[in-house]
Amino acid sequence: MMDGLLDELARFGDENDRIRAERARRMLNITPDTGAFLDVLVRATGARRVLEIGTSNGYSTLWLARAARAGGGRVTSVEMAADKFAMATANLARAGLDGAVTLIHADAGAVLAESADAAWDFIFLDSERSSYAGWWPQLARVLAPRGLLVVDNAISHAGEMAAFMARVEASAGFSTALAPVGKGEFMAVKGAA
Ligand SMILES: C[S@@+](CC[C@H](N)C(=O)[O-])C[C@H]1O[C@@H](n2cnc3c(N)ncnc32)[C@H](O)[C@@H]1O
Repeated sequence: MMDGLLDELARFGDENDRIRAERARRMLNITPDTGAFLDVLVRATGARRVLEIGTSNGYSTLWLARAARAGGGRVTSVEMAADKFAMATANLARAGLDGAVTLIHADAGAVLAESADAAWDFIFLDSERSSYAGWWPQLARVLAPRGLLVVDNAISHAGEMAAFMARVEASAGFSTALAPVGKGEFMAVKGAA
């Protein structure tokens, strides 16, 4: 059931984004191999408190939620656009994963500001790249010790990501890596000596 829905949504996202030029109308989903990569990362880290920034129609949320639920965890995912929030709500219900996910219709900056220190074991960041550098102090604060931040588009949009990545790499107490999976996954783990 879940694999069939993931395949269906991957095809929908590809087709939709092929015919729609306007960014707000595009799904901009992660690639399926990125989904599999996130699945392994969530399971391997045993992350139970997972935050996603940038839900779109919930494709990446499904990957994260299935993995988190297997370890007794859950996902909170934040989406600003009302139409995409509605699509994600429907897709999570179809997958039977609505009980493992809290969808928040809000600006992610506000959710980060309201999160307690060390609130999240795993953060997947996939929204408006121009916001990332400004969000970094909050991201660093809300990540738990040994918490993992994964950021999409690190290779596909390397220029837009460069300042943010440099800032994270220069931050004391974080260890970073770039995985050539999908559109490029930049990772930072908190707690490096
Ligand atoms: C690249 S898409 C997310 C794709 C999704 N992670 C997936 O793979 O299925 C980026 C999403 O972030 C949302 N977004 C952009 N800025 C945001 C913000 N400040 N707060 C919440 N959502 C935001 C956009 O509306 C868009 O749906």
